[in-house]
Amino acid sequence: MRPDSAPQSTPTPQQSTRLADYRAPDWLVDSVALDFDLAPSATRIKARIIFHRNPERAGEGPADLVLDGRLLALVSAAVDGRPVEPELTREGLRLPAALLPGDRFTWTCETEIDPKANTALEGLYISKGMYCTQCEAEGFRKITFYPDRPDVMARFRVRIEADRATAPVLLANGNPTATGDLPADHSGDRHYAEWEDPHPKPAYLFALVAGDLVSHDDSLTTASGREVALKIYVRPGDEGKCAYAMDSLKRAMRWDEATHGREYDLDLFMIVAVDDFNMGAMENKGLNIFNSKYILASPETATDRDYALIEAIVAHEYFHNWTGNRITCRDWFQLCLKEGLTVFRDQQFSGDERGHAVTRIDDVKILRARQFREDQGPLAHPVRPEEYIEINNFYTATVYEKGAEVIGMLRTLVGPEGYRKALDLYFQRHDGQACTIEQFRQCFEDASGRDLSQFARWWSQAGTPRLTVEEDWQDGRYTLTLSQTTPPTPGQTDKLPLVIPVAVGLLGPNGDEVLPTQVLELTEAEQSFTFEGLGSRPIPSILRGFSAPVIVERQTPDAESAFLLAHDTDPFNRWEAGRGTAVRIALGLIDGTGDISGAWVEGMAAVLTDDSHDPAFRAMVLEVPGIDEISREIAGRGGLADPDAIHTALREMRQTLGNELSTHLTHLYESTKSDRPYSPDAASAGPRALKNRCLGLLAATGSADAFALAETQFRTADNMSDALPALTILVHEGAPVADALLEDFHARWQHDPLVIDKWLALQAAAPLPGTLARVEALTGHPSFDWKNPNKFRALIGVLAAANPVVFHRPDGAGYRFLADWLIRLDAVNPQTTARVAGTFETFRRYDTARQALMRAELERIAGVESLSKNTREMVERMLAG
Ligand code: PHE
Ligand code: ZN
Repeated sequence: MRPDSAPQSTPTPQQSTRLADYRAPDWLVDSVALDFDLAPSATRIKARIIFHRNPERAGEGPADLVLDGRLLALVSAAVDGRPVEPELTREGLRLPAALLPGDRFTWTCETEIDPKANTALEGLYISKGMYCTQCEAEGFRKITFYPDRPDVMARFRVRIEADRATAPVLLANGNPTATGDLPADHSGDRHYAEWEDPHPKPAYLFALVAGDLVSHDDSLTTASGREVALKIYVRPGDEGKCAYAMDSLKRAMRWDEATHGREYDLDLFMIVAVDDFNMGAMENKGLNIFNSKYILASPETATDRDYALIEAIVAHEYFHNWTGNRITCRDWFQLCLKEGLTVFRDQQFSGDERGHAVTRIDDVKILRARQFREDQGPLAHPVRPEEYIEINNFYTATVYEKGAEVIGMLRTLVGPEGYRKALDLYFQRHDGQACTIEQFRQCFEDASGRDLSQFARWWSQAGTPRLTVEEDWQDGRYTLTLSQTTPPTPGQTDKLPLVIPVAVGLLGPNGDEVLPTQVLELTEAEQSFTFEGLGSRPIPSILRGFSAPVIVERQTPDAESAFLLAHDTDPFNRWEAGRGTAVRIALGLIDGTGDISGAWVEGMAAVLTDDSHDPAFRAMVLEVPGIDEISREIAGRGGLADPDAIHTALREMRQTLGNELSTHLTHLYESTKSDRPYSPDAASAGPRALKNRCLGLLAATGSADAFALAETQFRTADNMSDALPALTILVHEGAPVADALLEDFHARWQHDPLVIDKWLALQAAAPLPGTLARVEALTGHPSFDWKNPNKFRALIGVLAAANPVVFHRPDGAGYRFLADWLIRLDAVNPQTTARVAGTFETFRRYDTARQALMRAELERIAGVESLSKNTREMVERMLAG
């Protein structure tokens, strides 16, 4: 009985799932017991599942038992001990109601799977000899037949049997209940472990790990005095690189207690780091599984940015224990219920740990680069989508990052106390349930007394709203008129007004704040707000802290931007003022209507030399925008982007700063250098970021002195945060020593996969004519392994997403290269292929010749008959949109 052998070869049409078609499950699960007999190519799983009829649906009469299952060999099945032969389909199995004994029964079955052949990395697979699982969103069905949907929650017991030699450590969710030896068989000594998870959970949170692992241990006493054992499991040799992840975990646990009153709920919390993983990390109950990139760090191998990401992602997965696991999603359309909320929580945590201004600027940069990009292209969709073909394609910037913005706006509207009250109500009312956005919203309505029906459009309406601002000043009255429009997106032509919280402050001509931040609630298409009693015409600071995910369309006069950069009391808007000016200068250079103004250079000099500012903030202000950001601006104004012209303009801007500010930059570079031992905290990382920004601007001029500084920094660095930027600068500026240093670097780090990823990525990102040939050569390098998602992304993903000049080569060679590799990877790992394919989403931004070349590649991919449903959905949406 192999359901996959015959039917799988006949192509089925793309079937979509719709929110409107949601039906509660016919059968619910009381408990699940799973026995795993682990072997690399033939793992056997015995499942014993107690089903009962969903009382909600019982009135509808008898119901068939329909279970999901993919690529499973069914060995045997029985109901209440009597063997049955269910009807097997491509998607699972069906047992007619007539064969079911009543409203409650025990289903047992045995399946066989091949973890070694599982290159898609969904379900049970092997990474560097270690068994591990990934079940979100629909991976559990590749382990056993099951109602694999988040609204079916059950208690799980797990027994694992494996070779002691290759898998001395056996882990699953919850608490360990037994371990022991088994009689040796032909393959050697076997042993077993049993685990029990007392918390009912959906199958997507199931996890199992077995392998040769060592743990870095710690513990934490919760606010109520319970002792929790904390363990981070890694491969032998990596145990020295877990301290920062552990420290982050403990700070996150404390933070959730202090800010949300949420404690951990088991006696053991485990994290496992694996090298082959499609995403960043996974919040499996009590047993988080991480991409090793977001756990392992040492000063020599990880950068400041890596440390910050480790902290944020460890916190994110931990925070899911309440927002995601205790309260989960009713169906996958509600994904933002756990993801938007949990991203918002990890952003708040990072802000508390590292400073709110710089954290916010970073978050907004990511939001604009990924989510605004998505919202303005063919893949635009609401925070809560209404339809999908492959749910894995909807783990997007819109669901995550815009989903977090929606939570942030709610908090702004109801205030911090109202927010805490609403979340308390949510935890109390829905603990143990699988919920919808409506239920979440109801908690906010009940706690705050506010009607949020119009606000709810943020979850259902796609697209980035445009905000326009008109000013009026008469007889001491200042009036701001705000209006909003949201452009059409695929499948949504008519847009309704949203509730937009616009945080505004007013500054007097001397820079004093004459009106501290106020939140204006824009609910109509157009609305005016009047401020009385002002002595002189104020300068407005609009959308402070980026209080809503919108695009402000306002031709801010240059003098006003310069004033705000110098005086705004809101740090976000200070940064924004500098950024806006830089974007305008770039656009002027590109279309030949403007020049690099002395005022901009002076403004930058003022920030550079102003020691009263946080160094991290100064480093951010001094950053010249990237090519992709300018392309988006051009496309947003109805133009077509030419990456080469943009590159030339941005380069000129960096060179001008480097030349005109060289004395300041050199001085600041020297004075920010530090002899103190490396420490990853924000206070030490800020000066390093500023120092490296100075170095980058100096090197942009191509000066031999600057190259010498960078080379010395690289050669003397005792940490990766100094070494990597120096090497990147030398390679990207085409310094003569670059190749020799790249070789040294490889020789030193070839044993460390995460450092090799950096080595690949920095070469793939070089905006140089020889890059494509070099990357092609690297695909054959022994250090490259295209089946490992981190490596594929580091080389091929970075070329496509972070190197616009080379990817958009006018001859189309960059597009062809990407398409060739996507076609190749798709047969092996559809999920990662579909994500990387998303880099084509912006193809309509560019000149017609490039558009045609990209379209041809998308069509070539679509023409592959055996293409996965993941990649096919992405490619077809891009071509259609
Ligand atoms: N749920 C994970 C997170 O955001 C992401 C993920 C999705 C991981 C699907 C793996 C597969 O924390
Ligand atoms: Zn998440």
